[in-house]
Amino acid sequence: MKINKNFDNLVPNYLFAEIAKRVNEYQSANPDKDIIRLGIGDVTLPLAPVVIEAMKKGADDLSKKETFRGYPDYEGYAFLREAISGYYKSFGTDVGADEILVSDGAKSDCGNICDIFGSENVVLVTDPVYPVYVDSNIMAGRKIIYADCSKANNFKAMPDDSIDADIIYLCSPNNPTGAAYTKQELQAWVDYAIRKDAVILYDCAYEAFITEDLPRSIFAVEGARKCAIEFCSLSKTAGFTGTRCGYTVIPRELERDGHNIYKLWYRRQATKFNGVSWPVQCAAAAVFSDEGQQQIKVNLEYYKENARIIADALDELGIYYTGGKNSPYIWLECPRGMSSWEFFDFLLEKANVVGTPGAGFGSNGEGFFRLTSFGDRDKTIEAVNRIKKLLSE
Ligand code: MLT
Repeated sequence: MKINKNFDNLVPNYLFAEIAKRVNEYQSANPDKDIIRLGIGDVTLPLAPVVIEAMKKGADDLSKKETFRGYPDYEGYAFLREAISGYYKSFGTDVGADEILVSDGAKSDCGNICDIFGSENVVLVTDPVYPVYVDSNIMAGRKIIYADCSKANNFKAMPDDSIDADIIYLCSPNNPTGAAYTKQELQAWVDYAIRKDAVILYDCAYEAFITEDLPRSIFAVEGARKCAIEFCSLSKTAGFTGTRCGYTVIPRELERDGHNIYKLWYRRQATKFNGVSWPVQCAAAAVFSDEGQQQIKVNLEYYKENARIIADALDELGIYYTGGKNSPYIWLECPRGMSSWEFFDFLLEKANVVGTPGAGFGSNGEGFFRLTSFGDRDKTIEAVNRIKKLLSE
């Protein structure tokens, strides 16, 4: 018996599992310390009332023979896919309900989509990068190439025609940097993908945080239907990090290598995934109702205000950062020339504040650090005060 040797090429631990391990060790050794966690992007506000009502009703349905549900439809219930399609329409993008596949989240789909592509494909990711794209393709044994993001390009890598790629991961607004592409910039990526006969895997899990006039979907860009798959999630938009529900959009006409991509993904999902439960799909549909949209906006505003509080403190301290405006993440340059992990330890030990070291997102993340705005308001203010005090000493 042999294991998949590609696992030997992974860093030992998933980034956020590694951080949790280090923080738990520190907390065990220092039980009296009040640690504030602004590391993993996990939400802290409860689900919206209309969402909870729908979930309770969905659970109630399961208690009666007449309304009981077993296996859901493989692509997700039609009423939820219709609601998602209507949501796209609300910001001017046409996506058919029959092009949407409901799942347990964007993270799993971004990794699982690898199943439908050959292992000889070259994968292009931006660096810094959400580790799921890299780790999933290392597991599959694919060659990965990196497009550099830095202060010089405002952490927005652009395509380079001298480089060939088959699969291109883009995330906008970006995790971890918070940088968001304009329509023109996305157009350049779409045109490049079409020239290379590549597929763009577009992660827009943070689209609900866009405040400026920027595309909420890759399908707002001309030609995207010929080359893109989009992943989105209710985790950050509506607080579903624990509840789990997301969706993937594949244009019906998208083909590569003589195969229809929608059909391949449907085949993969029907084989390995049994869908999202009835109460959760009912709850997800409620997110897209008028009332649901109003209620989730309140939570989104709360997180956006947290982002402003963090950004204001960095402005006061004269620290360079990106994000925080169209994104729940603030990506800052580590002060005093510290490395990412040095700053992680420094903040943990001296201020009892947890963030995410930029180096965990790739070599271009070295010297940078990510803070999330998904924390509790009072704790965010307390964390910011501690950071200001520490860095003014
Ligand atoms: C993040 O904080 O980047 C994500 O929420 C973490 C994850 O998906 O594991």
